[in-house]
Amino acid sequence: MMEPDIPSPLLRVLELYSGIGGMHYALKGSCIAAEVVAAVDINTVANEVYKCNFPNTCIYPKTIEGMTVDEFNKLNFDMILMSPPCQPFTRLGAQKDILDSRTKSFLYILALLPSLAKPPKYILLENVKGFETSVARDKLIQTLESCRYSYQEFLLSPTLLGIPNSRLRYFLLAKLQPDAFCFQTFTQVLEQFPDHDSVEATNASSFTQTLSADDNKKKGNNSDCCTNEIISGRDETVLYKLETLRHVKRKHSQDNNSSMQMIQDFLEEELEDPSPYFIPPKSLLRYALILDIVGQTCRRSVCFTKGYGCYMEGTGSVLKTASDVELALVFQSFETLSEDEKLTQLAKLKLRYFTPREIANLHGFPPEFSFPEEISLKQRYRLLGNSLNIHVVAKLIKLMVE
Ligand SMILES: C[S@@+](CC[C@H](N)C(=O)[O-])C[C@H]1O[C@@H](n2cnc3c(N)ncnc32)[C@H](O)[C@@H]1O
Ligand SMILES: *[C@@H]1O[C@H](CO)[C@@H](O)[C@H](O)[C@H]1NC(C)=O
Ligand SMILES: *[C@@H]1O[C@H](CO)[C@@H](O)[C@H](O)[C@H]1NC(C)=O
Ligand SMILES: *[C@@H]1O[C@H](CO)[C@@H](O)[C@H](O)[C@H]1NC(C)=O
Repeated sequence: MMEPDIPSPLLRVLELYSGIGGMHYALKGSCIAAEVVAAVDINTVANEVYKCNFPNTCIYPKTIEGMTVDEFNKLNFDMILMSPPCQPFTRLGAQKDILDSRTKSFLYILALLPSLAKPPKYILLENVKGFETSVARDKLIQTLESCRYSYQEFLLSPTLLGIPNSRLRYFLLAKLQPDAFCFQTFTQVLEQFPDHDSVEATNASSFTQTLSADDNKKKGNNSDCCTNEIISGRDETVLYKLETLRHVKRKHSQDNNSSMQMIQDFLEEELEDPSPYFIPPKSLLRYALILDIVGQTCRRSVCFTKGYGCYMEGTGSVLKTASDVELALVFQSFETLSEDEKLTQLAKLKLRYFTPREIANLHGFPPEFSFPEEISLKQRYRLLGNSLNIHVVAKLIKLMVE
């Protein structure tokens, strides 16, 4: 007689700083048998979005440092997924690190870990580049070592998976000993996924599967791409738009890499009402030279941050929807033009912001993800800017547990 299969119990996952649930989607995408037993976040707007998408998950709308050891013990979790606030560590910020009050809750978690009744088997942490050189990181490592965890650190971007969006992030995977990672380096921060075969396997099995690069071929050629112009000259020569030849060459090689998907694979078919997304002329005039502009056949975009749609500088790429208009032509002798002429030129590009849905697509959010109606456009950009790339994290969760 065969024994009936006894289903293995679901891993119990605690999602800290849960936001709109990027970690939860990554967990689903990893295909690990697991459930989120609690999601903790103080942001009521984020919690509303979370609840709308995961109505059966228990949300704790409070501060992490306000939770007692008993409360944590009762959750009896096997895994922590967390993205602590990144502002104390961003390279462009004040880098106040552990002196920043926003690091307090993270230090509380570190203090809590040794006193848990049952330490979790797995921990995954996400943060910005810059975290790897922080005091907070050193304290994390000390805590992990004293609690007998094996760990590996990473700096990874979705571009490694063929997704045309840069979002370089720090990740740490930790596993309770005697378990260890076969790819563990001890000293090095890995800047690649460890094993190409396992990377392929994750893609095939997960709902976050991306289109193969071949799917792009049927969509014709690159003529609309922003970096299609002929290039010659010295690398530091400013061509146009304050961009040097070196910049343009770099973009060109990204756009020419057929193993990357095209931006158009992530765009909404047709916008019901595109008007909220067009960039006001005043902003256009003021920021034209520093905007990162991508066409639909480009294979790159810059990181979308929480100020997108609100502040123009360095918050994310904008989309050139006029596919037949070349950037180089519009910006030719731009400085010599009057304001009106500049505006006329810029208007030809039909620039617009990426919509929240399009950013969610680049992040790997599944089609069924949605925002409750009452969440404003500004709030949507803000929440997505704080979130993460689901494909990248799904792959890491899989690597951690297997
Ligand atoms: C970087 S975001 C995490 C985003 C999340 N991974 C997602 O996919 O949306 C940090 C989150 O931590 C929350 N947060 C910050 N400090 C907190 C605290 N002390 N207790 C609970 N939540 C906190 C913020 O409200 C924010 O939603
Ligand atoms: C193209 O992109 C892939 C995926 O990111 C990368 O591994 C490869 O090195 C790139 N090729 C070139 C020629 O840049
Ligand atoms: C490809 O580009 C060329 C010019 O660069 C154009 O003549 C041709 O029609 C384009 N083909 C498609 C399928 O868009
Ligand atoms: C684009 O890529 C193809 C094949 O990888 C290569 O032959 C070609 O020279 C590249 N073009 C430019 C302008 O880099």
